[in-house]
Amino acid sequence: MPREIVASAPGKVNLHLGVGEARADGYHDLVSVFHAVDRREVVRLLIDGEPVDGPVVASMRTTFFVDQPGEDIDGPGNLAWRAVEAVVARAGVAVPRVHIEVDKHVFVAGGMAGGSADAAAALVAANALVAEYGDPLTTEALHNLAVQLGADVPFSLMGGTALGTGRGDELVEMLSRGRLHWVFVNPKIGIPTGRAFSLLDDLRHGNPALVPHLNPTALSQAITSDDVARVAAALHNDLEPAAMTMRPVLKRVLEAAGRTCRRALVSGSGPTVAVLCDNADAAHAAAGQLAEQFDGYEVFVAEGPDRGAVVERVS
Ligand code: C5P
Repeated sequence: MPREIVASAPGKVNLHLGVGEARADGYHDLVSVFHAVDRREVVRLLIDGEPVDGPVVASMRTTFFVDQPGEDIDGPGNLAWRAVEAVVARAGVAVPRVHIEVDKHVFVAGGMAGGSADAAAALVAANALVAEYGDPLTTEALHNLAVQLGADVPFSLMGGTALGTGRGDELVEMLSRGRLHWVFVNPKIGIPTGRAFSLLDDLRHGNPALVPHLNPTALSQAITSDDVARVAAALHNDLEPAAMTMRPVLKRVLEAAGRTCRRALVSGSGPTVAVLCDNADAAHAAAGQLAEQFDGYEVFVAEGPDRGAVVERVS
């Protein structure tokens, strides 16, 4: 029987993010092109003792390879913790208690779905644990649990490049050609996702120019062309004005980042700025320049598309 299960899941950037009107349930209908990048969260389940009935998570600890938030995020409210409990409860299989370790490589509250990646990696890790003691959940059942955990969690499970509609959780895989090379810059001033969406609603009341961009055709054609210039020209994020209103420094970061490579835009709800470059060398050069210019900001390179959540090792 396993003593340790290791899984990983990707961070993401939205190549197109169109935000519709607010819905009665507090969410917004989206038309989103999600793109997974090879900056991955790692979740380890350390397994101890004999199978038990009831809750299985004994404790969790996050190790930060990015800036650490002020508050403690390790507890029963954490998405990774909730994901493990949800899989075991749904499967109805007795498994031993686990300690969860998360290696955090994707910014917290950064707009790259780091918390959702933790949840997705925890879902597949927990399902591998269940498989050692009984019948694991189907892909569909895992997807349904992902939907309940958060709007971005289903994409973190799936990876690649995908069109998301509804809350962003109704997904269809998209065709794409070639690799995209990115620099990600985090000004270390997190934006709570819900605040960015509600501020966009407010801004739209005063500014009729902020219409929803719900047609991703330009982007979907561009990503099949293997032409970075075309992809760069088609990138779009409806949430960008909200992120820039909340964090005015983003204007300067976007301008500077845009000068280093093809195009810079805010990733998801921000504040991370994603910079699309021609190739890996250009991305590394741009990352060096930006790290120097914005002393204290976090900067890394990544490329996509990358695979979704996977079990890396059972030992
Ligand atoms: O689903 P998740 O917990 O990641 O979403 C965080 C918040 O972002 C939601 O509570 C909601 O305010 C906002 N959101 C939204 N429309 C979406 C996704 C998220 O308004 N499609």
